[in-house]
Amino acid sequence: MPLAKAATLVRENAYAPYSNFKVGAAVQAASGIIYTGCNVENVAYPEGTCAEAGAIAAMVAAGETEIVAAFVIANSPTPVTPCGGCRQKLAEFSKADVVITMATTAGAQQEQRMADMLPGAFDRSQMDKI
Ligand code: THU
Repeated sequence: MPLAKAATLVRENAYAPYSNFKVGAAVQAASGIIYTGCNVENVAYPEGTCAEAGAIAAMVAAGETEIVAAFVIANSPTPVTPCGGCRQKLAEFSKADVVITMATTAGAQQEQRMADMLPGAFDRSQMDKI
């Protein structure tokens, strides 16, 4: 199943009773396998998790740590952009040239390279003196 289809399908399972904003995410790992996630909200609002976090957790739980492509979709007016925290999470497992596709359920899409999505990212090289 292609990345877009996987993200679109998993979005239906999002648990978003507080925001009513369902998000679906799919990441393709180095093996070629696609892992999916949706946002899971909580009545204690800060405990909610983003779709990207779910997809990344599924990938890591399966034993993979390299993202080669990612796709995020929501019913937004313009292609949904990952939040700051999710950009950092994606950057942990994505090289600079990995393309993140953002989409609306109406069919609009926008692509961005990982490096452009989080310029100046905190990365492990900054801990080199430890
Ligand atoms: N959300 C995501 O799942 N991913 C994003 O990239 C943006 C925001 C979720 C979090 C929350 O459940 C809802 O969308 C509204 O912020």
